[in-house]
Amino acid sequence: PKRVPVIAGNWKLNPNTLSEATNLLKLIASNFLYHRSASDPEVVIFPPYPFLMPALELLEGTGIKVGAQNCALQESPGAFTGEVSASMIRSMGCDYVMLGHSERRTLFGETDAKINAKAHLCLKQPGLGIILCIGETLEEYQSNLLESVVEMQLKKGLAGLKAEDISSSSLIIAYEPCWAINTGIAATPQQANTAHMAVRRTLTKLFGADVAQSIRIQYGGSVKPDNIEDLMAMPEIDGALVGGASLTADGFTRIVDGAV
Ligand code: G3H
Repeated sequence: PKRVPVIAGNWKLNPNTLSEATNLLKLIASNFLYHRSASDPEVVIFPPYPFLMPALELLEGTGIKVGAQNCALQESPGAFTGEVSASMIRSMGCDYVMLGHSERRTLFGETDAKINAKAHLCLKQPGLGIILCIGETLEEYQSNLLESVVEMQLKKGLAGLKAEDISSSSLIIAYEPCWAINTGIAATPQQANTAHMAVRRTLTKLFGADVAQSIRIQYGGSVKPDNIEDLMAMPEIDGALVGGASLTADGFTRIVDGAV
């Protein structure tokens, strides 16, 4: 089966104010309104929570989807101050939740078990897809542990999910080697492709070949307009999760164009 490429922009904790976010969204919307075609990749933007509603409104009609960068470990309604539930996110009209980004794992104590619990909560929301982020550290990479690390992250992160759960929802895996995130040093297309093959081997073990072949695997880590084409030319690379370069309308648009 042909996998539709998917380009996602992860805004992280950017931009600083609502007016800056609104400006960026308007610029992106104007770039995208008139140049969509059936062969384009799926495009998703992940702004911070307070900018989700403006993003949904300002991107209407562009075909760009909106997702949240995280969700609560608890179901709503409930007494969980400061949290935002998968149900709230879906009810706004968001199509995805990102889970397990390396920054959440390293800075905010996100464990595979928590990620797994969140994945189950997201799958209870019809129409809510997941981008599950995985990837090894530099030390693990240098010790040849890439495959065992991603295998463990996938097994634990997707524990308890069955092939039917996966095929009836949108699950995307984002492979992001920690050493390539925000460093300007992207994995080479060959390195990324080899890692993606390891990811798909694990997905095959977990869910069987048919489901594994249908799951899109994005590469993330210093993706830029000038390296997207070479990355996307690799057979196992189905898209990109873009951080820094998604923060200008021009850069993000050029990346989407480069992924066609
Ligand atoms: O989610 C995006 C990744 O962390 C990559 O970030 O493109 O700024 O390296 P970056």
